[in-house]
Amino acid sequence: MAIERTFSIIKPDAVAKNNIGAIYNRFETAGLKIIASKMVHLSKEQAEGFYAEHSERPFFGALVAFMTSGPIMVQALEGENAVLAHRDILGATDPADAASGTIRADFAESIDENAAHGSDSVASAEREVAYFFSTEELCPRTR
Ligand code: TYD
Ligand code: MG
Repeated sequence: MAIERTFSIIKPDAVAKNNIGAIYNRFETAGLKIIASKMVHLSKEQAEGFYAEHSERPFFGALVAFMTSGPIMVQALEGENAVLAHRDILGATDPADAASGTIRADFAESIDENAAHGSDSVASAEREVAYFFSTEELCPRTR
């Protein structure tokens, strides 16, 4: 299987609830290696740019307000089949539909505050990793 990179956000609700470490543990247990990580507090412009594909959706304004409501953790993750492996442990967008044992089932309350983000394709992952990290900030694992 191919080694891929994907992009993760621990959203403001999960940071506020002190769940950063618990969610990092899910990544590592699933064999996903953190190759870059930082805390940021997004500006409105940064949040709008990140979620530009949703700009015409009715929830866009609330999504941007939520994503700028507090600090977030952003991560680049590396591993076998990382994009799908990460989406699997993340769970469905609406935590009410998320399989038990997934991050959203265990750490999120609602679809609009759903604890974490994961890239939905290799192409999205490349764009999203580059949105937050320079090449020099990525630390590919050699062991
Ligand atoms: P989306 O890309 O559809 O979901 P995912 O994060 O699982 O890839 O939507 C992006 C975010 O927008 C989602 O995580 C939460 C928010 N959102 C809502 O608030 N309401 C909605 O009805 C949808 C579809 C998404
Ligand atoms: Mg998405």
